Amino acid sequence: MRAAGLLLARALLVAWALLHPAGTQQCHPAGPATVLRFTDRHAEIRVPALHRVPSPLDPLYGLVRRCLDLIQQNPLPTELLRAALNDPGSVRTSQVVQYELGYVVCAAVALLFTVAMPVAGMCFCYCRSRRRCGGRLRAHRRSLGCRRHCLLACLSFTSLVILISVTCAFVTSQRVKGQMEPGLGAVPTTLRTLRQHLANVPQGVQMVVDKFEVPRKQIISDLGGLSRSVGLSIHTQLKAMTYAALSDLQDRAADLQTSLHHLQILDGTSRALAAARAELEPALRERRGRVVALLDDPRCTSCASALGRAQSLELGADYGKVPSVEKVLKAMAGLPRSDFEEMIRQGNGTFNSIPELAVERMAQVIQDLREELSRTAQKVQSIADSFPLPDYTRPASKALVTAEERSRPYLREVERFEHYRWIAGTVLCSIILLILACNVMGMALGAYGLSKREDPSDYECRGEAGAKFLLVGVGLAFLFSWLLILLVFATFLVGGNIQTLVCRNWVNQEIYKFIDTPGNLPPSMNLTRQLNLRRDSNLSATYRDCKSGAGLWEVLQLDRSYDLDEHLKTPKYTADFQKRLGDFTAHLGDVRLLRSEGRQDLETFARSGLDEVDYGRFQEEMKNPLVQTSLPGLARNLEGLQKMQRNSTVAGRLGAEARALWQMQNSTVQSQEVLVAKLGESVQFLSRLAPHLKERVKRTLATTASVEARLPVQAQQILRQEIGCFTRKELRYFTQYLNWVGQTLREDVASCQPLATALDNGRVILCDRIADPWNAFWFSLGCCTFFLIPNIIFAIRLTKHFRPIRNRLISTGSEETCPFHIPRVTALKL
Ligand SMILES: *[C@@H]1O[C@H](CO)[C@@H](O)[C@H](O)[C@H]1NC(C)=O
Ligand SMILES: *[C@@H]1O[C@H](CO)[C@@H](O)[C@H](O)[C@H]1NC(C)=O
Ligand SMILES: *[C@@H]1O[C@H](CO)[C@@H](O)[C@H](O)[C@H]1NC(C)=O
Ligand SMILES: *[C@@H]1O[C@H](CO)[C@@H](O)[C@H](O)[C@H]1NC(C)=O
Ligand SMILES: *[C@@H]1O[C@H](CO)[C@@H](O)[C@H](O)[C@H]1NC(C)=O
Repeated sequence: MRAAGLLLARALLVAWALLHPAGTQQCHPAGPATVLRFTDRHAEIRVPALHRVPSPLDPLYGLVRRCLDLIQQNPLPTELLRAALNDPGSVRTSQVVQYELGYVVCAAVALLFTVAMPVAGMCFCYCRSRRRCGGRLRAHRRSLGCRRHCLLACLSFTSLVILISVTCAFVTSQRVKGQMEPGLGAVPTTLRTLRQHLANVPQGVQMVVDKFEVPRKQIISDLGGLSRSVGLSIHTQLKAMTYAALSDLQDRAADLQTSLHHLQILDGTSRALAAARAELEPALRERRGRVVALLDDPRCTSCASALGRAQSLELGADYGKVPSVEKVLKAMAGLPRSDFEEMIRQGNGTFNSIPELAVERMAQVIQDLREELSRTAQKVQSIADSFPLPDYTRPASKALVTAEERSRPYLREVERFEHYRWIAGTVLCSIILLILACNVMGMALGAYGLSKREDPSDYECRGEAGAKFLLVGVGLAFLFSWLLILLVFATFLVGGNIQTLVCRNWVNQEIYKFIDTPGNLPPSMNLTRQLNLRRDSNLSATYRDCKSGAGLWEVLQLDRSYDLDEHLKTPKYTADFQKRLGDFTAHLGDVRLLRSEGRQDLETFARSGLDEVDYGRFQEEMKNPLVQTSLPGLARNLEGLQKMQRNSTVAGRLGAEARALWQMQNSTVQSQEVLVAKLGESVQFLSRLAPHLKERVKRTLATTASVEARLPVQAQQILRQEIGCFTRKELRYFTQYLNWVGQTLREDVASCQPLATALDNGRVILCDRIADPWNAFWFSLGCCTFFLIPNIIFAIRLTKHFRPIRNRLISTGSEETCPFHIPRVTALKL
């Protein structure tokens, strides 16, 4: 019957425990989960992105670009280019002229300039040699001063403009030179870097795969602490409950022991007291008779006062009348049959050994998990083995090698021509500076001469020298202006076409569209095939994809499409690991707190009838003194009376009685009183315990049973929870690693971003770093060249003003007398 009840209780407990999981699903190290660090990324081979650097010359570049937009307004000539690339023979000149109309007009202007300047120069020389121009003023006129100032101002202005332009030309020329070399060097370097990037993919993938070591080490180290932490967690969470049950049990065991002890005292003392009473009775009766007789004696002075007291010298409490506890003692005979202390120690020990037990029970599964991890490492290795790239990047690598080799001679040529350009530019700029120097010297000397006009000694030679300087400048300008315009036109033709044909269409990606349109490029230059790009893709799409971070395998043509995310799905690698952990069970909470003898002991104790004894009777009896009259009180009374006696015989007897009373008190009654006190303590203990006995024992038995039943269930639950937490934590490592693999493969190891970056870098180098200053160079130089025309005119006209006026007195000289007379030089008004 009881066993069935216990079973039922256990079943109910199990159901309760399952419905109310102990604690929520919180995993106890609640801090942030460990973040794995994957150092040592594969970043050494990368194409660094270049950017346009802002410069103070940007307004000039903008101006030049707008000029070029004005000169060349046609869009990308796809038809013309297609023809030129596929069949150069079929290109008709008229088409080219039509497209390059702006340049043709400029070429005409340049040609005109090239022809006209030397012709004008020769004319001027001729006319000078005939002394028909560049001579002297014929006479003073009032307006002369004003014109002179005006000419001076104009010449200064043109000189200033030329100075600014030549400075710009010089600066931009240096800038082109400074950018050209690294720019040209970047081409093979970038091609090589790209090739290396492709070649290093397998190594990089292997490196990424090898980094599985990081999560593996972390998981192995976590596994090392798992079993102990599970055990400790169970122990800590169930400790309070178990210790409380054990201490309850300990209390009951103590109750049993103590009750037994006190019952024995009760039995023993009440018996002893009853026996002592029987012994005391005749002695007391005799003593009473004597004392009463003595006090009754008429010779005993004022003894009547103590007579009442002596007469009540009778026995008081009778412990023969208290209830017997013999039955109870009999029922408890032989208790405790079991060693409670040892039993509790054992139970506690078993419970306290749960952590060690957990370590022992989980050893196998942890070993299995370690092996499972090695299998996972093999699976991860399959990422590298199945990574498709090495076979498919070969065409691209080959194309890159070819491009590198083919571009080398062109690059060398370009470098050579750039060198020539720089020399020519520097020389011509220096000549312009020389012209400017002549202008400045001429103007300075001339002006000085004019200021000293009233001082005839200096005046003439200074003015003459000034004029000569100006004429030297003019001569230089005539000599070199055609060379200047040739350099300007040549650089303009190249730079302008690069800007309008290439750069403009590169920025808006028209070039990629052109390359993508089938038939535009000759079949041998089919980039899709050469780089083995996806068949359904093209350069524009590839560039866009690469720029937005696609992996190489996403832009290359593979036999079968490869989905990296499919290969990086976490469950693929963790399912077995997870299953092994999920399937693991261990019984960890089997602790016997109370064995059956112990239980029987306690039950016997509860049924012993200890609580049925009438302890009130004992207490009532104890209220009575052992002797009705206090023996010491009477003895002192007698001693007091003794002193009052006149008859010495009576006094002596009184003294003897008092002594006898004292003796009785000291020898018998006192020891009985000690017994009574002892009895009182025991009665008090038992009477306090008795009303709660049954209930307490019952409760203890129930608690113990319940704890015994709950321990395994809750231990199991905690085990599951801990394993769940552990699994989630370890899965996060897998996820972290696989995410990192995906990210590293896509953005680093097998990224196709370098391709897009290389293209962008090409544009930045060609257009922003080279074409812009190049175009600014010819623009500035062209500016100088054209301003040489007004410069020449103003210089020639100014020379007349610097020369001394001949024959001041002859107002109208003939051609002979005034050989330097200049008729209005119309030839210079080009
Ligand atoms: C059980 O063991 C623990 C640890 O040794 C101790 O602290 C506790 O007092 C013991 N409990 C009982 C009831 O003996
Ligand atoms: C390149 O060749 C492929 C077939 O090999 C063809 O589908 C594609 O249109 C070609 N692309 C161009 C731009 O000619
Ligand atoms: C390039 O491919 C994209 C899609 O792949 C397509 O939309 C686009 O029209 C193609 N461009 C050319 C010029 O073929
Ligand atoms: C004292 O009392 C005793 C008897 O009790 C008696 O024999 C004796 O004579 C008395 N002594 C005197 C002096 O009265
Ligand atoms: C008995 O004890 C009391 C005090 O406890 C003492 O004064 C008295 O002398 C003792 N008497 C004897 C006969 O021992």
